[in-house]
This record gives sequence, structure tokens and C-alpha cells, in this order.
Amino acid sequence: SQRLTYSTEAAVGQAVGDLIVEIIGRKPAAVLGLATGATMEPVYANLVAAFKRGDVSFAGVTSFNLDEYVGIPTSHPRSYRSTMNALFFDHVDIDKNRTFLPEASVDKPDEAGERYERMIAKAGGIDLQLLGIGRNGHIGFNEPGSAKDSRTRLVELHEDTLRANARFFSDRPVPSSAITMGIGTILSAKQIVLTATGVAKADAVRRATSGGFQADCPASALQEHDKVSWFFDRAAAGLRM
Ligand code: F6R
Repeated sequence: SQRLTYSTEAAVGQAVGDLIVEIIGRKPAAVLGLATGATMEPVYANLVAAFKRGDVSFAGVTSFNLDEYVGIPTSHPRSYRSTMNALFFDHVDIDKNRTFLPEASVDKPDEAGERYERMIAKAGGIDLQLLGIGRNGHIGFNEPGSAKDSRTRLVELHEDTLRANARFFSDRPVPSSAITMGIGTILSAKQIVLTATGVAKADAVRRATSGGFQADCPASALQEHDKVSWFFDRAAAGLRM
């Protein structure tokens, strides 16, 4: 594992983008695990820029996003499908038929979770999983209390997460449930990159990176994975700015 701290959020986005470009350069058919959220936006902006420069092609890449809201249509502008299209997929040469998110608008979420796990396995597993971290230590939508061996499933979002996401939903209440990869799903990835920026994440980062697994900080499970890279800006790392 490695821990890298940069002076600015922009530098973090650049470094994570560069790492992904390097991985796809080595393995053009890489399977990427993707995340949404504000932290990821500079990363996708850097990937789009690298594609436009001709530095990378996503034509062979398959992707699996961590999570999707339940209770809003996929076509809603704040669904994670719409968000991924707008920030990334629409601007690069990835085959959208090979970009997957949990199928959240279904009657039987249990089956949807199992189906997602099978699809990941069939693709050969995830080469690189990108993660953000919630202020409460969540990864994907694995809220505090999630089991370390949890797999893709329907979950209820915590109050803190609803509050953090409310700003995105002016037209309707913020969705209160989601389908998310589990902590066990995430730990099955061959390599993991967790990105955290901003002082609001400093406490979660501290708990995630020390003291072993604590159920009240799901990201702390990553300490048990042997290929995790932590990318922080100084604020999230708890350093003086
Ligand atoms: C989103 C996801 C979440 C976010 C986390 C941080 O797909 O899995 O775990 O990574 O909530 O979100 P931001 O980056 O908006 O602070």
C-alpha cells in the first residue's frame, strides 16, 4: 500500500488520472470499478482531457460502477448513470454497452445484486477500483455497520449521506436507498485507489487508515487489502494547508 499527499485537489485529480491512463496503457482491456461524487469529477475531467490529447483509448475497457440510487429513473439527471454519461462516458471512446451500474429500477433488488456480482466475475474481476470516502467513512454506499464480507445488495442510506446529497435534488426528495457493491466486492478488486480531498474528510481518512477494521468506518476494511493507494490533498490528510 502507498499513501500519497498532494498540495491541491487539482494535483490529486491529475495524479489519479495519470495512474489510470498508465494502467490502461499496460492493459487496454482493463476492467475498471468506478465511483461518482464530487471527489471524482477532476479525475474524470483529466481522463477526458487525456483522451482528447490521444494519450489513452477506452475502447477496450469494461467498467462497473459502485452504486446506483433506487427510486429514481435511470434517466433522471441525478441518477449515477446520467452522471457518469455526462462527466465521462459521453466524452470518450468507451463502448457504453460495456459500462455497467447496478440495475436499481427493478422489482427484485436481491437478484439484481447477485446478477451484478456474476457479471463482474464473468468480466474477469475488477483490475482497478476507484473509491471516494463519505464523511462517515462509507465506501460505495456501505454505511457504518456494513459487514466486511458484504456483496452487492440493496441498502438504506444514512441521515448524514442524505444530507450530503440533498443539494443534488431540488425537484424531489433525495433517494433513501441504493444498490451498492459490498465491502467484500470492493476488497475482491486486484487494486484499489481511494481518493479524498477537503477538510471535511480528514476525520474519516484518519479512521480509515489506522487501527485496523472498525465496523463504524467501512473504509478501514481497506487496511486488509495489499494493493491500496490512498490519494489525499493536504486537508484530507489532516495536514496544515
Ligand atoms: C459514489 C460513492 C460514494 C462517494 C462518497 C464521497 O459512487 O460510492 O461512496 O464516493 O460519498 O462523495 P463525494 O466525493 O461527493 O464527497
